This record gives sequence, C-alpha cells and structure tokens, in this order.
Amino acid sequence: ARDGVLVVGSITADVTAFSRRLPRRGETVLGDDFTLFLGGKGANQAVAAARAGAPTWMAGCVGEDLFRGIVMDSLREHGVHTSEVRTVPGRTGVAHIRVDASGENDIVITPLANAALTTEMVDLSIAATRDRTRVMLLQLEVPAAVTRHAAAAGAEAGLTVVLDPAPAQELPEDVWAHVDIVTPNESEATALTGIEVHGFESAERAARWFLDRGVRQALITLGGAGAVSVLRAADGSDVTSRFPAFPVVPVDTTAAGDAFTGALGAALAAGLGNDDAVRRGMAAGALATTVAGASPSLPDRTAVSALLAAHPPLSSH
Ligand code: RIB
Ligand code: NA
Repeated sequence: ARDGVLVVGSITADVTAFSRRLPRRGETVLGDDFTLFLGGKGANQAVAAARAGAPTWMAGCVGEDLFRGIVMDSLREHGVHTSEVRTVPGRTGVAHIRVDASGENDIVITPLANAALTTEMVDLSIAATRDRTRVMLLQLEVPAAVTRHAAAAGAEAGLTVVLDPAPAQELPEDVWAHVDIVTPNESEATALTGIEVHGFESAERAARWFLDRGVRQALITLGGAGAVSVLRAADGSDVTSRFPAFPVVPVDTTAAGDAFTGALGAALAAGLGNDDAVRRGMAAGALATTVAGASPSLPDRTAVSALLAAHPPLSSH
C-alpha cells in the first residue's frame, strides 16, 4: 500500500546543555544536565511520522564517525527505515543546543554530512520507496537546491509534498509550485514573506503569500495561540480554518515543529481528512514541548490520541 512517508533531509547528533539561564556573550555558566541524542529536523520528522504509525523512510547522509552509530541506532529504535541513509566521507552533522529553565533554546547547526546529500541520491530514494509512500516531508537543513529538486521530483512521483521551511532561509522562487503544504511557524513565516506574523489575522495574510506562489495549503503554527490553515480551492477561493492550541505546560520547545509536520504527514499518508490531520499534528507538537530534547520528546500515536480525546474540537472555523 502507498501509506508511507519519505523524509528527505537532515540527520544530526544533538549535543545539548541545559542550564538555568543561557550564558551572555563571553560568559560561562554552570549547566544542570547534558544529553546526546538523535536530532536534525529531517530525522525528527521521520521519528515523529514513524511514532505516529506510518511506515517511514529517512533519506539523508551521515558521516564515518562515532555519531553515525548513535543516530542510526536511534532511527532504527524509533522504527524508521534506514535503507535510504547513506554514509559519506567526513563527519555526521551536529546541532549544538542550549536550553534554559524556561525551555527557551538557541542552536548552532553544523551541516557536515548533511551538505553531501545530492539530487541523484534523492532520485534513487524516491524510486526505491515509491511503491510504499504517499507523502514526502522536507525541511531546510540540506542544500536548498536538493530540497527544491526533491519537491519537484516528489510531486512528479505523485507524492503529497510537505515543506517545513525551517530554519527559514532564502529559497529558489520556483520551489513553491511543487509544494502542496507549507508548515512554517510565526518567525519562519515572517522571514519568508516579509509580513510580520503575530496571531491569526497576520498569519492568514502570510498564508496567502505562499498560495499566490503556487502552494496548495499554508499551515502556519502560532505556538500557544494555535494554528491556521488556508487552502486554495480549484476555483481560486480560499478556505480558512483556525485551530485552537492544546493546553500544555512547555518545558522545551525543541522539535515541536518537527513533531507537528511528522505527525501531520503520517496522518495524511494514512488517508485522514485535512482537519483531523492538522489536529494530530498540533497535538504531537504540543506534546513534544512537554519533554526535554528533540527525538526523545516526539510522542507516539497513543499519546496523541489521548490528548485529542481530552480536547474534542469545538469548532474549527
Ligand atoms: O527542530 C529541532 C532540531 O533543529 C534539533 O533536533 C536540531 O538538530 C536542530 O537542527
Ligand atoms: Na521537546
């Protein structure tokens, strides 16, 4: 069956220090904890999709170092197929993360092996998984030209192409025509559209910026305020839906966006309707903020279903 997800993107080792507050420039502070886990927006999306129950393939690159074993084992433990992960010379990508007591983080990403992903590798991975996959998930931690190619080739292969434009960066204009669904948060939507996004009304204007460039649906997440979906119908009219946030107490927002897009992709691959898929993504994103770290915080299907059952939709319009 074509009910699977192909994630094309980054795989990193997340090297994370937790401290009461983040150091100021030039300052040294004492940490409370330290972790080393699988991360990278691509791998996180893959883990989120697999934990949501979708057959999931990760297409990306790792290096020939100690971190390779750590990230590969973790992908497999979370149920992600690793046949499309390629080992390249050099080192596995690293994200250097700091988290303070309020859950705020800052991150330095060094792409390393992620920079070695090529359009040829993407084509091979699409061909190898095509009988099993329905949805392609993309982010922006591999070369932009490769992401652009993946979107075009994925659309060509009949996949629903979902792009989380994170971290936000300049993209080739023609990428948007190949993207079915874009899933930025407020700051990414602001950076890409030039529209200051804060809350529903400005998010809806930013959503139309994407639709005007060829995206079918813009889904903008608004943190504690919820999310908005704007879909362009065949007759050119826009269908707007506002979704309230799930009430949770965040401890670490790392990977919340990845949880959202991964769970959304899994739900779409399983054939769920649009609003249900959005709500599953939002519930997964909310739950991911309640646990420290990236991959360890990505919830499974049972946890998502429980949160959804506790907060049935009132009205989404
Ligand atoms: O979105 C969270 C991810 O961003 C982390 O896992 C880290 O790897 C960074 O790339
Ligand atoms: Na988290």
